[in-house]
Amino acid sequence: MSLDISPHYPVMLNEVIKSIKPNNKNTIVDCTFGCGGYSKKILEIFPNYQIIAIDRDPSVKKFADTLNTSFKNRLKFINDKFSNLGNIIRNYQDDISYFIFDFGISSFQLDNYDRGFSFNSEIKLDMRMGHNTISAYELVNEAPLEDLNSIIKIFGEDSDHKKIAKEIVQIRKNKTIHTTKELRNTILKAKGNRYFKKDPCTKTFQALRMIVNQELSEIFNALKKTIELSKTNTGITTVTFHSLEDRIVKKIFNISKDLEKNPSRYLPKITPNAEQSYIQKMSNKAIKPTDNEIATNPRSRSAKLRSIIKMGNDKININRKDLKMERLFELEEKYAG
Ligand SMILES: C[S@@+](CC[C@H](N)C(=O)[O-])C[C@H]1O[C@@H](n2cnc3c(N)ncnc32)[C@H](O)[C@@H]1O
Repeated sequence: MSLDISPHYPVMLNEVIKSIKPNNKNTIVDCTFGCGGYSKKILEIFPNYQIIAIDRDPSVKKFADTLNTSFKNRLKFINDKFSNLGNIIRNYQDDISYFIFDFGISSFQLDNYDRGFSFNSEIKLDMRMGHNTISAYELVNEAPLEDLNSIIKIFGEDSDHKKIAKEIVQIRKNKTIHTTKELRNTILKAKGNRYFKKDPCTKTFQALRMIVNQELSEIFNALKKTIELSKTNTGITTVTFHSLEDRIVKKIFNISKDLEKNPSRYLPKITPNAEQSYIQKMSNKAIKPTDNEIATNPRSRSAKLRSIIKMGNDKININRKDLKMERLFELEEKYAG
């Protein structure tokens, strides 16, 4: 069946579908439903599966409704943040076969000028995906200089972080920075008249968006809950686009594996063989999109797919401090409201 529900291009769709190894359970949780690209394919090729589709953005419900009409209500849409997974899946835990995460923002959100994500609109700065406490307007106009500097440095990895933060604070002395275009002009002024291969505003916009949506804390809390609560033979597949997202996923997957190996730091190290392992990585290295996909959809070029299967029911306890990324989480928490 071919059903065009949106112009969105689902990144690494073939690889995500390949990572799903059907078992005797019948529910897949699409934790980042978006325009439903993954969900649609799963409904098409796994007729026995139902989907729990989560998205914090209420505006994507229309895509879920379209899929339900075509696939006989096999999809349940939940408008919530995936950090609330514990509550969302409480009644389905035994049936869940896979969790799928496709982090970040969708082109549907980016291309919608009213949402205040894109560089050049005269719309008020916003960047909220849904279920937020602050918007980019508040962050840009109220955060102190040192926080703006750290946010652009750590989350944006922009080497001009000091200049940009200073320019924002300078402009703010006379007027508020209202629109995305005004923020763009502020960043361009700070950067001076230089040539940039990529748009010089990308990194700052991305950093602000990550704080507004608490993106890294969301990933940590969701993966922690998913790994802790999943039952035997449950898979988790993630697609990341940003180096910090990927670092969190990689560390959590590794820590979970190590915790299982060394249940207590006070016990001698044991190294189980593959059959004894509770977390099985589907591949050691992240899988990347093919050259073909990158040519068709350049946005996919930074994507990385990682996938694990939890092989036992044992409760694993993941401690955030073990990721050694506390500064990032603390900065996000400061703006969590
Ligand atoms: C890259 S898009 C997913 C695209 C989807 N795989 C598809 O094929 O259409 C990411 C989606 O995740 C949602 N999202 C981001 N962070 C979220 C969170 N913390 N909780 C729930 N949804 C989130 C966004 O609103 C967006 O719709």
